[in-house]
Amino acid sequence: MSCATCHLSDGAHGRAFADAAARSAVPAQSEDGRELTPRHASTLIESAEQGGWGLLHWDGEFTSMEDLVRATFAGRNFGWLPDEHSAALARFAAVIRCDGGDAASGRVSYAALFRDCAGGLDVAAASDAQIFDASARFVAEFVRTLRLSRDGEGRHNGSPYDAFLAANRLPRAPNPGETPHEYARRLHNAVAALRKPTFIDDPTRRLARHDQPFRFGEEELRGMRIFFRGAMGYVRSASAGNCAECHVPPHFTDFGFHNTGATQDRYDAVHGEGAFAKAAVPALAERNAAPERHLPPSVAHPRAAGPWREAPMRDDPARVDLGLWNIYANPALQAPQTAIERQLNRTGVLSREAVLALTLARFKTPSVRNLGGEGPLLHDGSTRSLESVVRLYRQMSDLARDGAMRNAPPEFAAMSLADDDVAPLLAFLRSLNEGAAR
Ligand code: HEC
Ligand code: HEC
Repeated sequence: MSCATCHLSDGAHGRAFADAAARSAVPAQSEDGRELTPRHASTLIESAEQGGWGLLHWDGEFTSMEDLVRATFAGRNFGWLPDEHSAALARFAAVIRCDGGDAASGRVSYAALFRDCAGGLDVAAASDAQIFDASARFVAEFVRTLRLSRDGEGRHNGSPYDAFLAANRLPRAPNPGETPHEYARRLHNAVAALRKPTFIDDPTRRLARHDQPFRFGEEELRGMRIFFRGAMGYVRSASAGNCAECHVPPHFTDFGFHNTGATQDRYDAVHGEGAFAKAAVPALAERNAAPERHLPPSVAHPRAAGPWREAPMRDDPARVDLGLWNIYANPALQAPQTAIERQLNRTGVLSREAVLALTLARFKTPSVRNLGGEGPLLHDGSTRSLESVVRLYRQMSDLARDGAMRNAPPEFAAMSLADDDVAPLLAFLRSLNEGAAR
């Protein structure tokens, strides 16, 4: 088992450094019988780019890359249950200590690597915990290097979209002191005012990894306008995606948590239309009084069931992935609480019960840069094409308008897409792909 077992797709089947499978296989453990991760392995590229909230995983469980790496190495993805922590550390340290490298390929041993790179850590003398922590630091440092192409000023410059901004002298990043949302509006206005856009269409350049032309033409520009536009009121087919409200440039994510209706859609597909809206979900007191029954496994409750972090199943209506709901006010997870409160309870007037209700089915907004070819998308990896994602948005924003979407995001009120909007929107999303141009 290694990180690359689940995070090393080449982008031909989905996002680079994600898994080509919808959910990843985990090592067998007789105690829980689990075979798959509850969610799709998200891309590692730019995952260390955390914006204001600094939360990692689809549900915001972690507040630092080091914590995430330690919990992964000693956690279920590597075959360990929460109460096997010291066994996991001992095994991990043994692998590092006993590794002899590989003379044939020239790979040096971990012992030599740690001696030279860790400020001189002697793995023969170091404790299990020292070896484990040093390894987590190295891996976290490596993940931070997985970034998209940037220019000398740190601005993205690898995609046809970025080339279009540069060619038309459009603003490419927020000014000092400007919020990303303010920047998005400034960019949107500047694009609306473009009279004679310079398009990018270089037949000699292709995005090698995605087998697509290096192009940002009229169709992509139309899609960009739809992506940025929001329309209030009951206007049907207003060509308004309102996407940039959550997928905010230049990162194309707000690093925040929202409910897009993916959970409702999956649940209703199994249990019938309208089932999720009526599904019984425990309130805060009931949930926290029975952690074994309602919360994911933790050190204090290593055999907890965690049904609210699972894919829906026909014979068990109390199984569904509620995302951030599993983390908020969970006594086993102190670190993320402040960031969640800051996001959902800015003025501090809401009760914890009210905030918990708001967390229902929220997941972290993924960046829509470099989505790659067809491959698993969304938190459960169940959607394999960009077109299906857009279909989900159209369906859910309609349900939200009719009051039939549970915990609907306010942003959906200003989303109004027609059939004709889909193709340009998809062309725009593809213009955010990058990869060595040839
Ligand atoms: C068995 C498969 C598996 C292995 C092995 C694995 N991961 Fe993951 N990884 C996942 C899944 C699944 C998710 C999504 C988890 C969630 O949100 O519930 C994820 C999420 C992440 C994220 C969060 C990205 C974000 O934007 O929030 C990072 C970072 C990450 N993994 C790094 C690592 C590192 C580093 C390793 C090795 C120490 C590793 N993973 C090993 C499956 C795996
Ligand atoms: C209310 C905030 C919000 C709005 C508005 C929004 N998104 Fe999203 N988007 C999200 C979140 C959150 C997810 C992850 C949801 C999940 O996995 O359950 C997501 C996922 C996606 C994905 C899948 C990415 C991946 O890596 O799996 C695509 C593509 C996408 N959105 C495109 C769009 C487009 C196009 C629009 C406009 C029509 C849009 N989004 C509007 C929040 C939003």
